[in-house]
Amino acid sequence: MGRTGWPGWLQSFLCFCLPPLAQGLRIQEYLYFQVLSPRDIQYIFTATPAKDFGGVFNTRYEQIYLVPADPPEACGALNNGVFIDGQIALVERGGCSFLSKTRIIQEHGGRAVIIADNAYDNDSSYVEMIQDSTRRTADIPALFLLGRDGYMIRRSLEQHGLPWAVISIPVNVTSIPTYELMQPPWTFW
Ligand SMILES: *[C@@H]1O[C@H](CO)[C@@H](O)[C@H](O)[C@H]1NC(C)=O
Ligand SMILES: *[C@@H]1O[C@H](CO)[C@@H](O)[C@H](O)[C@H]1NC(C)=O
Repeated sequence: MGRTGWPGWLQSFLCFCLPPLAQGLRIQEYLYFQVLSPRDIQYIFTATPAKDFGGVFNTRYEQIYLVPADPPEACGALNNGVFIDGQIALVERGGCSFLSKTRIIQEHGGRAVIIADNAYDNDSSYVEMIQDSTRRTADIPALFLLGRDGYMIRRSLEQHGLPWAVISIPVNVTSIPTYELMQPPWTFW
């Protein structure tokens, strides 16, 4: 599936029409991005958009920086906030709510946030990111990434001494015939 997020009117329509019984059913939606550099992690990664907060991608970014937040949990002021302005932040789960992290990145001028699980060895469990109980909102897209994928991206950047990766997002995988081959080799489907 190569959708880049359903339009808001369609989401409301679906939510409105689904019978109560279906509420427990998970309708998994994926959004893809490709790392362009560094080359050793030049793969197409699969993320899941937050369920009930944050925005959708209205633009495709051919090249934008993915900047690991410092500190990684991004629950307060950031040391590298200037790098995040106008770019996308890679954040780690934990310490505060998904929504709080998203708002912090938004306040720093981030275009979107990718929140990786803090279970570094987890290569299979996508967490459904939902609102906290504060009635706050966020406008930028928030995506969840597997712990293993987040770890591998961070590790590669550390090894290369790089402050960010360059990515394309979102990627329409239905237009890439070899998409399956371009997924990270450490992820098994
Ligand atoms: C990943 O997390 C899920 C949910 O917590 C768990 O069921 C699964 O066993 C974990 N997998 C690994 C490889 O740790
Ligand atoms: C994705 O690519 C397919 C095949 O090229 C195309 O038919 C489809 O319209 C594209 N979807 C989007 C959202 O761009």
